[in-house]
Amino acid sequence: MSRTTAPVGRRLAEVCGHRRVGAYDILVCDDPDGPAPDPGQFYMLAAAERWGGGEDERPFLPRAFSVMRSRTDGTREFVLEDVGPGTRRLGELRSGDEMWLLGPLGRGFAPPREERTPVLVGGGVGIAPLAIWRDVLGPDALVLLGFRDTEHAIGAGLIPGAHVATDDGSVGHPGLVTDLLAAELGGVIEVYACGPPPMLEAVRAMCAERGVPAQLALESGMACGFGACFGCVVPTRSGYVRLCVDGPVLEAETLEVVA
Ligand code: FES
Repeated sequence: MSRTTAPVGRRLAEVCGHRRVGAYDILVCDDPDGPAPDPGQFYMLAAAERWGGGEDERPFLPRAFSVMRSRTDGTREFVLEDVGPGTRRLGELRSGDEMWLLGPLGRGFAPPREERTPVLVGGGVGIAPLAIWRDVLGPDALVLLGFRDTEHAIGAGLIPGAHVATDDGSVGHPGLVTDLLAAELGGVIEVYACGPPPMLEAVRAMCAERGVPAQLALESGMACGFGACFGCVVPTRSGYVRLCVDGPVLEAETLEVVA
């Protein structure tokens, strides 16, 4: 599988937009000098200012984010959820602010095999790589998204036509997104999934049982993003791989389990 490689070094990018979609912040930045990313690739992001605990404290490490949209004018979109000080600071950025950006990095999604119908399965902020992949695949791709509640489910609007499940039953199917996937497994499909590990493990197990090919976009703590620190290793059937260079998209059949 080929990949789009990042230029050496990080780039200073201008934030050119921010909007709130339910529980999520959508950050838009201008990256005219960077190559267009492949769906499923990611960037390491850091705010150019106030990136750390304070004057005498160390800066945060950059944070890894799958790109959610890429436009021909060089803008890139990312979806953030406030889960800690780094994501909170990035979510504060507004037009005119600057951020450091390194990417696109890693390996993204491969096209469906044997003309299979793509089924995209996402949980929460895992919507990001599926949105850009859906832009490429077109409206024939079926999109199934799971969220915890109404406020998070507003994020489903980022992918038109998505079918929604919510944990609290407030929007769409009451239950898990894998309930929606179960109804599709009899078809000639290929599954693309991104979301929390329990969801990915359920997708992996269901697809393995039915012999359905699946590509999983995994998450891991990433310190460097380009293969140097070994902080992102995950076990596969053939040994450990670095998710930042061998992933973040892995064939489900290469995994014993998603931990
Ligand atoms: Fe450093 Fe993957 S994040 S090796």
